[in-house]
Amino acid sequence: MTRIALFGATGFIGAACAAALAGAGHEVLPRPARRLWVDGEALTPAPQRAYRPHLAGLAAELDGVGAVVNAAGVAMSAARLSPGLVGGNAAWPRLLADACEQTGVPRLVHVSTAAVQGRSARLDESLRYAPVTPYARSKTLGEQLLRDAAAGGRVEVTLYRPPSVHGPGRRMTSAFAAFCQRWPLVTCGDGNQPVPVALIGNIGAAVAAILAADSAPLVVSHPYEGHTVRTLYETFAPGRPLRTLPTRVVRGLLRAAEPSGQWLPPLSALCRRAELLLFGQGQEPGWLEARGFRLPLGQPAWDEVAAAVHRRSPPGDRPAHGAGGSPLRHADGHTSDNH
Ligand SMILES: NC(=O)c1ccc[n+]([C@@H]2O[C@H](COP(=O)([O-])OP(=O)(O)OC[C@H]3O[C@@H](n4cnc5c(N)ncnc54)[C@H](OP(=O)(O)O)[C@@H]3O)[C@@H](O)[C@H]2O)c1
Repeated sequence: MTRIALFGATGFIGAACAAALAGAGHEVLPRPARRLWVDGEALTPAPQRAYRPHLAGLAAELDGVGAVVNAAGVAMSAARLSPGLVGGNAAWPRLLADACEQTGVPRLVHVSTAAVQGRSARLDESLRYAPVTPYARSKTLGEQLLRDAAAGGRVEVTLYRPPSVHGPGRRMTSAFAAFCQRWPLVTCGDGNQPVPVALIGNIGAAVAAILAADSAPLVVSHPYEGHTVRTLYETFAPGRPLRTLPTRVVRGLLRAAEPSGQWLPPLSALCRRAELLLFGQGQEPGWLEARGFRLPLGQPAWDEVAAAVHRRSPPGDRPAHGAGGSPLRHADGHTSDNH
């Protein structure tokens, strides 16, 4: 049993981590994350000035703790680059690593995202980055700052990378389900391309598995959950036909949208999500699979999530086109992580 300070326990992923870690017999201490604002114009790794004033207080909070899990951050894939985004996703985790080092906490598991490799042909556990959106760039900077902190050798850092996470009650999940019910289901190719997505219960289990090991590598990917474009659509809209679009035309359209996406983050996030559903993205087997970790939840749990979404949103109540029918947009105009 380890005393684990958990930051972001009030959030979607943090709550799942709290449940899984408590279930594994750990003492979980929920702690509030500091809100930092860092001028991220150039996204350069120099945020220390913003967090120095918080360091002593945070370090004191970690006294007697055996490990820290950071599930706190700004999970908005369509966010513009802002001091709050850089503060939450880059400066905050680095502050936490420095506080761990100062107090002598030996391990820090940071919830990063597969979005840091957004445009890579295949996801892997390397430090090769290909972020598409400002959100993904802020998470990439967070990883780089933690990598530098880990190089000091006094705190073992693990950057855990989940893809888009689904779960009951999650707006991204209900928006995706509504999209699958209402819009023509399209893909490029035969629809059997792998899609990296995760169930919330499996995220908690993966974090618990990382902490169950005596030591873990710097980067750990969430294991592939086995979904293809076709199976994901079938989960949320069983029986609906899948139509194939011409790959070259689609690639041309997405490329044409790229310059506008540079200054319009919601557009680049939307295009990135479209790319994932149209082309899929493969993944190299990683450290968790090599250790024999098995995801506790499989297709029956995905079916339950889809059924729960449909129960909550009977056909007559489902959002009309443009009012939540996109898999990306939430009612508040924000989006969850997608890469
Ligand atoms: N949801 C996904 O699909 C997904 C996928 C991959 C990675 N992630 C990553 O996982 C982490 C958690 O995501 P989530 O979906 O659980 O988000 P969430 O539900 O919004 O929870 C995030 C938590 O972070 C804390 N927080 C809020 N604003 C913050 C800020 N400006 N600076 C620092 N902390 C702040 C809050 O906890 P307190 O009030 O308790 O401090 C909040 O409950 C994020 O870093 C995100 O990038 C999410």
